[in-house]
Amino acid sequence: MTRRSFLFVLGSSRPDGNTESLARAAAEQLPSDVEQTWISLARHPLPDFEDQRHDSDHVRPTEGNTALLLDATLAATDIVIASPLYWYSVSAQTKRYLDHWSGWLRTPGLDFKATLAGRTLWGVTALADDQPVVADPLVGTLNNSAAYMGMFFGGVLLGNGSKPGDVLRDTEALTRAKTFFAGETPAARFLYETH
Ligand SMILES: Cc1cc2nc3c(=O)[nH]c(=O)nc-3n(C[C@H](O)[C@H](O)[C@H](O)COP(=O)(O)O)c2cc1C
Repeated sequence: MTRRSFLFVLGSSRPDGNTESLARAAAEQLPSDVEQTWISLARHPLPDFEDQRHDSDHVRPTEGNTALLLDATLAATDIVIASPLYWYSVSAQTKRYLDHWSGWLRTPGLDFKATLAGRTLWGVTALADDQPVVADPLVGTLNNSAAYMGMFFGGVLLGNGSKPGDVLRDTEALTRAKTFFAGETPAARFLYETH
């Protein structure tokens, strides 16, 4: 069996925020033989995505943050999108990372879709609102993206907090974090397939 390797893509625009704290609480429970790679998109910013899908071939990036993120993405069996809730969805940094997937899908020689198919997408988010349902657009973004890519989807771990450290007082979230990565990972399905 392939050794599992988790990539944590940190999408907050500040360091040491609630989303990262919650993701780290969940990651503490991973077995020691599971590899963990943590990449902050604030520390490793991606350029704006340019859509060249229909005029020329995207070229595989060989250096810089785009190559770092691409190589880490291809190497992971499990990709954890750890984005705070910004305007009810993922942060701009996170969205830009996902936009780059569209270029990687069209990059000759990568087999990006075939490589990610069968791997698992997870989400972790922190939000200030005390009604978790307002994060549905973020959950939908990640669920549908996983479905499009033929991935499994482990769901989204939600925690509450506004200023850094707040989430460490959300005892329910911390309890959920303990078992989050041991949870079920069904094949992702678009909502229209499940209703
Ligand atoms: C640009 C921006 C947009 C935000 N939008 C929302 C929102 O739509 N709903 C919400 O509940 N909290 C919102 N928040 C609050 C953050 O989700 C909250 O502070 C969270 O703890 C930040 O995570 P971090 O500490 O990992 O950066 C927003 C914060 C910022 C900076």
